[in-house]
Amino acid sequence: MLYVSSVLLVVLLVVVIIRDVHYRRTCRLPPGPTGLPLLGNLLQLPAQFLHFKLHTWSKQYGPFYTFWVGSQPYAVISSVEVGADVLDRMSAVTSHRPKMIKPREFFFRGTITFWIDRGLLLRGHRRSMHASLNVQSTARFNHMQTDDAAVLTLGLLQHPEKKFHEHIHRFAGSVVLRSIYGGEAIPIVGPDSSKRIEQLTDEAMHATMPQHSVVDTFPVLKPLIERVKWLRKEADDWFEAMKGEAEQLYNAALPVDAWDAPTIVHDVNTNMEKYGVSKREAVFMAVSLFMAGQETSHTSLRVFALAMLHHPDVVRAAQAQLDTVCGERAPTFRDRDRLPYVEALVKETLRWRPAVPLSLPHTASEDFEYRGRVVRKGTVLLDNLWSQTRDPSVYSDPESFDPTRFLDESGRLRPVTPGSHLDQLGFGHGRRICPGKDFAINSLFIACAHMLWAFDFQWPVDEHGKTLMCGVDDMMDNALVITPKPFEVVLKPRFEGLEERLRESMKR
Ligand code: HEM
Repeated sequence: MLYVSSVLLVVLLVVVIIRDVHYRRTCRLPPGPTGLPLLGNLLQLPAQFLHFKLHTWSKQYGPFYTFWVGSQPYAVISSVEVGADVLDRMSAVTSHRPKMIKPREFFFRGTITFWIDRGLLLRGHRRSMHASLNVQSTARFNHMQTDDAAVLTLGLLQHPEKKFHEHIHRFAGSVVLRSIYGGEAIPIVGPDSSKRIEQLTDEAMHATMPQHSVVDTFPVLKPLIERVKWLRKEADDWFEAMKGEAEQLYNAALPVDAWDAPTIVHDVNTNMEKYGVSKREAVFMAVSLFMAGQETSHTSLRVFALAMLHHPDVVRAAQAQLDTVCGERAPTFRDRDRLPYVEALVKETLRWRPAVPLSLPHTASEDFEYRGRVVRKGTVLLDNLWSQTRDPSVYSDPESFDPTRFLDESGRLRPVTPGSHLDQLGFGHGRRICPGKDFAINSLFIACAHMLWAFDFQWPVDEHGKTLMCGVDDMMDNALVITPKPFEVVLKPRFEGLEERLRESMKR
């Protein structure tokens, strides 16, 4: 009996393997690295910095190739052209999110924007976000962002005992929080009202990574987990805590900020019917903005500082422009048109080390054809922004940090080809493109302009005279966000009476 069962099992296994191998060979997805039967390429994937591995594969298999994890195909998009074709032009069928069980069903439960499929609910979220964060509307937060950039600079000046990354982290959280819910800047020293939501975001991001999700590797476990309460405990506790925090923040939101700009919550509260969202949906839409906006902006500011420390020539060029335009007063958004170098520097920061180098995964909602290949419904589309931002057909010498690539010969910003977003690739594609991108660029512009205007940047030196540097490739993998390892910066004020000048600018 045992012998018969073993033979049957082996036969079954062989049939499954043959079917699997046959399907991969005949499915007409773009070809890619050869994997093992059943497991696919699973064992070839690193636990961290997946974008590097996928970039290396793209050199061998081209800008559009497939790898497999078990029976799940992943199509990787590695050139600007394929990104624009597949994710922008075909976004009607390439804008779902992967059907991962742990994040979708156990943690986020259809509430958090970035795990909702394309459809009516997503439309409501994105309409609400777009109304407040489109390029015109988001300008209403410029006063608040300028104020917070001055708070950041003041903090850096007065509290050198606090780590550099804590200062920029405070700024990144403060501007997003204030735009959504209103209120004062998060204090430089003291209670941080965004801490809890940030912790919860962190927990969810780590718990829902594929390597931490047993149920996504073995989906047969789903009914068991659904039935057994203690197996769901981590996700249930998380959801209740997130819901409580999101509701509390939402209900305490102010209608306008200190400059009379309506907060995002106020806007959505007064336009729920127009945007097609219920109060519950609006609560989660608002918190999704914070979850998506803080760590990404913080990372981009870290990348900015890392680039400045490695490129004193860039710092000098930016400061020369700031000195001509602003002199001894702090920069404002009114100066922006006359600060193209600073603007280009922000674009280069986002290109050089994109904060989310694999973007968020998209998924095909229908079968579609592309370049003679067929991409099946359910295929995960990995938008490899790392490869695209170093696409040699668009960016020459892509590894070097060079803001002038975005400027013409007379130092003006180069116009971007209509319909393309080559100066903003770090924000993803198509109908899922980052809804906070204009707000984020404004935050980065004013914060970078303030820091460059106020300080010279130097590496610290230890007691033995050794310079404490962070290499341009010393990065940490924080789930989706890839950030430079913590490093310190010595900031030397460029003006006498910097504090008074900053206080003056905060009154404007
Ligand atoms: C430098 C800062 C930022 C970077 C680099 C960044 C990057 C991205 C990327 C790559 C995506 C995925 C796009 C896609 O799937 O194609 C995304 C999505 C998103 N971002 Fe940002 N982001 C930044 C700041 C912000 C800010 C400040 C907010 C809110 C105010 C925000 C809100 C969102 C939301 C809600 C989504 C999900 C959109 C969806 O799933 O439809 N982001 N972001």
